[in-house]
Amino acid sequence: MSQRTALLVGATGLVGGHCLQFLLQAEEYEKVIILVRRPLLMDHQKLEEHVVNFDKLDQYASIMRANDVFCCLGTTIKAAGSQQEFRKVDFTYTVQTCAIAVKNGADQLLVVTSLGANPRSKIFYNRIKGETEEALSKLPCEAIHFFRPSLLLGDRKESRPVENAGISAIKGLSLLMAGPLKKYKPIDANVVAHSMVLVAQETRSGVNVYESDRIQALHDAVA
Ligand SMILES: NC(=O)c1ccc[n+]([C@@H]2O[C@H](COP(=O)([O-])OP(=O)(O)OC[C@H]3O[C@@H](n4cnc5c(N)ncnc54)[C@H](OP(=O)(O)O)[C@@H]3O)[C@@H](O)[C@H]2O)c1
Repeated sequence: MSQRTALLVGATGLVGGHCLQFLLQAEEYEKVIILVRRPLLMDHQKLEEHVVNFDKLDQYASIMRANDVFCCLGTTIKAAGSQQEFRKVDFTYTVQTCAIAVKNGADQLLVVTSLGANPRSKIFYNRIKGETEEALSKLPCEAIHFFRPSLLLGDRKESRPVENAGISAIKGLSLLMAGPLKKYKPIDANVVAHSMVLVAQETRSGVNVYESDRIQALHDAVA
């Protein structure tokens, strides 16, 4: 595979931050374009950073040219302030980014959604993630990969007490999560990011879904 360009959104986040590191290290990529709402203040010869207004993504279409699009955007209803604002980030920004990049010729999308993503779910979060997958699956793109992690582990700058309580409770149960329950085990954010970059090198076509057990196995195979 010749050297490629990656477009990454969510680079300031937990999964996105790891994804950025893997992309900058990967010799398959000669350029990594990131769209951020606040500067990362990082210097790297491969890195091209653009501070953008995500409500006006169309205005940045000319810089959104890449082979592979990595999407790690996301918020919480608490941080966003309402279900509507949450949907704007997790659905609208994600779908718009990918649609613009595909229109510009991108041939792979690698998008973090969530365990339980289902457009018909009664749970709002899972429904939005499912609607996002559904909308993205309609884009005319060679390969679309959805990563559906369970609870993410890693060092966060901001505190999320509810999530931390969930992590402690689920960690205690992790040893019992074998066989079909493996996909519910909490997973390290860096494992998710690593697997995204590995999958991008596989040149697999069509729509593909990776839950935590498969994400972990991809990482473990080369770790
Ligand atoms: N947390 C979990 O346990 C869990 C489990 C399953 C799936 N997921 C999903 O996995 C994905 C990655 O999660 P994460 O924990 O790595 O996310 P994160 O650390 O919260 O990072 C989210 C990213 O989205 C950006 N973002 C948020 N609101 C934005 C806005 N209004 N405009 C522009 N950018 C915005 C953030 O930018 P700023 O830094 O500027 O805020 C950051 O780069 C998300 O889609 C999440 O829903 C999470």
